[in-house]
Amino acid sequence: MKNFEYFTPTKIIFGEDTHLQTGSLLKSYGAKKVLIHYGGHSAVKSGLLEQIQTSLKEAGISYVTLGGVVPNPHLSLIREGIELCKKENIDFILAVGGGSVIDSAKGIGYGVANPWTDVWNFYLKKETPTDCLPIGVILTIAASGSEMSSSSVVTNEETKQKRGSSKTDLCRPKFAILNPRLTFTLPPYQTASGCVDILMHTMERYFVNMDTLEITDSLSEALMKTVIHNAPILMEEPDNYKARAEVMWAGSLSHNGLTGCGTGSGDWACHQLEHELGGVYDVTHGAGLAALWGSWARYVYTENPGRFAQFASNVLNISQGENDEQNALAGIQAMEDFFHSIHMPVNLHELGLHLTEEEIHDLAFRCSFEDTRTIGSFRKLNRNDMEKIYLMAR
Ligand code: NZQ
Ligand code: ZN
Repeated sequence: MKNFEYFTPTKIIFGEDTHLQTGSLLKSYGAKKVLIHYGGHSAVKSGLLEQIQTSLKEAGISYVTLGGVVPNPHLSLIREGIELCKKENIDFILAVGGGSVIDSAKGIGYGVANPWTDVWNFYLKKETPTDCLPIGVILTIAASGSEMSSSSVVTNEETKQKRGSSKTDLCRPKFAILNPRLTFTLPPYQTASGCVDILMHTMERYFVNMDTLEITDSLSEALMKTVIHNAPILMEEPDNYKARAEVMWAGSLSHNGLTGCGTGSGDWACHQLEHELGGVYDVTHGAGLAALWGSWARYVYTENPGRFAQFASNVLNISQGENDEQNALAGIQAMEDFFHSIHMPVNLHELGLHLTEEEIHDLAFRCSFEDTRTIGSFRKLNRNDMEKIYLMAR
């Protein structure tokens, strides 16, 4: 196992009506003027935005609003937000939404607090931020884990590059309000994509080629089983509070570092392969991960079939094969069957992408940063490997 540091400074306020505390919470953090940042229309339509504005008014906190964040959030809106914050002397950002809104808020927070450079440089990893405006979150979709994470993922829509910022604790939200009821209005596709993303944040840390801590493995396996159990319930009963709560808490725990204690920095190849798809073809993140995972798994499992067999046995109750290899492959198939059961794609075709060999070649070239980097740790993947996995996933 690896040495590790575990730091999760985000205060979680979980449960019914917790979003009504927003104003008083912001006050307790000394917020004077807040940017309320949100997405397309869901928070307006549900009345959430209005409730939040009322809560801030009651607490005597002034605010300005900036909506319009799209999934795979755009750099241009971040730039707009930075200018708005400077003009309005904003000292706190409140993200009302999912990963895209939170990541956009983090980008704005970085941009305002580091005026000495262009914010995109943090995503190109040319510079490291030294500060960030404080951020609070009202989560409306269980998926990205950005409400507790140290990263922000943004798309430069001009270059079609989707990139993660340098990881720093500076952008970890000060608080996150998790009210499962706020996720009742999610369309099934977003609910399912979110569940895949939560699973993948755990699997990216679980599939490592080293000795791991039993406690970390057990926590990860319990988390994955919980999501696999509750996701199908939510397909049938979108307003099942208990199932929403299980998935919501799993989402935060899957990406706050807990399931990576002792496993180094994880694998993350599927995320890198997906981010390229998101940047170029604007696909939904979780669905993109589902479309790639099986191909990645079949490409790499021979490095350590025992690890995949453990996953099959402890997470999916599959251990009938004659050896680790058989169980590993049966586990991969079962996971793909699970994705199908919640209407998620298991290849690019099902994701709605019909790519030519040339387009796949280009994706691999982009994902390898023009053939200058490898990704993954379970098995290190170069540009050629990436291309083969994309082709397998076609
Ligand atoms: O814009 P609105 O109208 O709100 O609609 C959103 C959006 O279309 C909708 N939605 C959200 N809450 C809703 C709702 N619709 C009805 N009712 C609600 N309560 O859902 C759609 C997707 O929202 P988005 O924020 O994009 O979803 P998600 O949380 O999955 O975030 C995805 C983004 O997070 C990044 C992904 O790459 C992607 O860009 N990630 C961020 C990470 C991080 N910062 O740590 C880690 C992840 O691995 C991931 O890469
Ligand atoms: Zn993810």
